[in-house]
Amino acid sequence: MERVLSGIKPTGKLTLGNYIGALKNFKNYQDNYETFIFIADLHALTMPIDPEELRQNSIDIVAFYLAAGLDPEKTTIFLQSDVPAHSELNTIIQNYHYMGELSRMTQFKDKSRKMNNSAIGLGIFAYPVLMSADILLYNSDYVPVGEDQTQHVELTRDFVHRFNERYKTNVFKMPKAITPKVGARIMSLSDPTKKMSKSDPKGDIFLKDDLKVIRKKIMSAVTDLDTNIYYDPENKPGISNLLTIYAALSEISIEEAEATFKDLHRYGDFKKAVADKVIEVLEPFQQRYNEIIKSNVINGILNDGAKKASLVANKTLLEVKKIVGLYVHE
Ligand code: TYM
Repeated sequence: MERVLSGIKPTGKLTLGNYIGALKNFKNYQDNYETFIFIADLHALTMPIDPEELRQNSIDIVAFYLAAGLDPEKTTIFLQSDVPAHSELNTIIQNYHYMGELSRMTQFKDKSRKMNNSAIGLGIFAYPVLMSADILLYNSDYVPVGEDQTQHVELTRDFVHRFNERYKTNVFKMPKAITPKVGARIMSLSDPTKKMSKSDPKGDIFLKDDLKVIRKKIMSAVTDLDTNIYYDPENKPGISNLLTIYAALSEISIEEAEATFKDLHRYGDFKKAVADKVIEVLEPFQQRYNEIIKSNVINGILNDGAKKASLVANKTLLEVKKIVGLYVHE
């Protein structure tokens, strides 16, 4: 059976961008693929974070996975740091990743630009190597992600070519990123030329935001002076972003969303329709999240997930060790 793997990093609060670009799509795989979905907690340490916040964020992500329809009977849900093979494979394969290619990664450039040069941790630079390890340990065929992560999957693919060629092996499977047709890049509501990210409280919709706050944020989203509603990301980035959010959450195409609003010439009415749609989706999602947090299921799910994931990951790790010459005795 083909395999699917993805993960979310527990830094900050999850956004509607995370939901549309990644989270809501994960459940679509669990019936037809062997699916591994994890919490990328080691990745969260690449930026300064309070330990208690990190722990809480990780628990939240498990609850979000379940609230988004992941079934732990079908999907292996686990915490990255519970499976030491991730760190170990990372240590091995970092030697086959190049400084040049890592320094060209957009995420690294963005994050390091915002920080003082001497205080940039090595982890943020080496981040995509760990991500390669995550993907390759499970022989993943498909990696569902938002657009901003495709560059990292491309890097993994380059590495797979290089490694398999060098050792004349096919130990690493060639993974492929899958991005959603609609909503692979949700933009900030306060500046629709920027990606919606976990660190932008004004332009973000957080999954745990109060529903009234969500409505307010959408009603005050930055748009333009025109009154027509159509998709043109270059000239109408705000309206195009709202159309994308509406289409993604309604599971329809952008064209269908445009057709829904073609006779509407008041942005206020349009924003209200978008806000209604977001609330229609997030209200039951938040209810499920609250029930899951109150129940005591998370520990058990993570324990089982760690066991199942370790079996697969350790097998790949052992093969790699043999290939590179690290395996000397039984
Ligand atoms: P992270 O935690 O930044 O984001 C989680 C997922 O959400 C997507 N996403 C978006 N999609 C659409 N619009 C947006 N504005 C938006 N913002 C975020 C991301 O593309 C991602 O799919 N490095 C990863 C975590 C990771 C991972 C992996 C993913 C670690 N190892 C292996 C897949 C496979 C990350 O930081 O995602």
